Amino acid sequence: MFHYFRRKPVFIIAILALCILLLAVFIFRQSIFPQSANNGQATGTLSASAARTGRIFGAAVASSHLTGDQQYANTLDTEFSGVTPENEMKWETTEPERGSFNFAPADIIVSHAQSHNMKIRGHTLVWYSQLAPWVNDIATGSELLQVMKNHIANEMGHFKGKIWYWDVVNEAFNDDGSRRSTNNVFQQKIGDSYIEEAFKAARLADPNAKLCYNDYDTDGINEKSTAIYNMVKDFKARGVPIDCVGFQSHMIVDQVPPDYQENLQRFAALGIDVQVTELDIRMSTPVSDADLQSQADNYQRVVKACLAVSHCNDITVWGVTDKYSWIPQYFSGQGAALLFDDNYKKKAACNLVIQTLTSGS
Ligand code: G3I
Repeated sequence: MFHYFRRKPVFIIAILALCILLLAVFIFRQSIFPQSANNGQATGTLSASAARTGRIFGAAVASSHLTGDQQYANTLDTEFSGVTPENEMKWETTEPERGSFNFAPADIIVSHAQSHNMKIRGHTLVWYSQLAPWVNDIATGSELLQVMKNHIANEMGHFKGKIWYWDVVNEAFNDDGSRRSTNNVFQQKIGDSYIEEAFKAARLADPNAKLCYNDYDTDGINEKSTAIYNMVKDFKARGVPIDCVGFQSHMIVDQVPPDYQENLQRFAALGIDVQVTELDIRMSTPVSDADLQSQADNYQRVVKACLAVSHCNDITVWGVTDKYSWIPQYFSGQGAALLFDDNYKKKAACNLVIQTLTSGS
């Protein structure tokens, strides 16, 4: 056989040419038809298709469901490469009494994520809501500043080295771009400087974690997102540490802002990362097939926007399944906002997200 090949160089060249041709046809077919033709059902998973683009696809996770619902854990493990504790890292849970810390519920999520090689977003250190009541009773700004720094040092210290991005400050602006003061003890007692003080304390506590400002209704270019844009610009100019802005993206079907991508892009141009941190797209329930298709198109717009911005490195949906979404509790008659339905079945939106990520790579 070997002898035969040595005498027939033309034959060898022909075989090589055939191999190259087959490879070229395969690559061409993959780029044109990245999804196998099976009635719109995307093959692959959210995490794998996002990984092909160098991105993480995460979900907000509740420790109670993680330990109490095997199907929930299985879906998380199969489909997602990132987690954000939905409530477990918030101040009311982590420091319910002054100086008394409880990280047990968050530890459940963190150790699960670590054992499944998932990235972890820490959510959230300084927020007026889900705050331990005792914090509101602190009398002076200087004492509150110490309390805030101490909270950041302890919580970030506990999770040091394990958190990819931290939401350092959450929801500090009003819709008109002014600072949120109502019910916000940090703004009332410390004033505007509480945000930069929080970021400085966070950098000291875990220098390797990336630091985010996170807010809602900032998905398009509007007064609120512009105020945050100006804050980041100012922080960068003055050397206040900030690495990222999170766009929560709690949206209503057919109301994704037309300038969603442009908005992400202008923040990225400031030299920071941008992340879609709490994505869900809610609808009136019960939903029709047409509603599900509209929702899929909306999700696709968000994914395409993130893919178009190189510094958009994470898309996190605010829950694994419609079954446990926060939406119905807060918006009566609305829901079905996520990628998996009540029975953990992939919705049209999920298939289209996977298909879009796959083509986007
Ligand atoms: O802690 C009590 C528990 O003791 C009680 O048994 C249970 C009964 O319903 O309620 C528990 O409190 C709930 C809490 O989450 C902790 O699980 C509240 O009822 C519930 O309203 C609360 O909702 C959370 C909400 O933040 C509160 O602000 C949602 O789960 C959570 O998804 C939501 O997440 C926020 C982000 O952190 C920031 N951006 C907006 C987003 C949606 O509101």
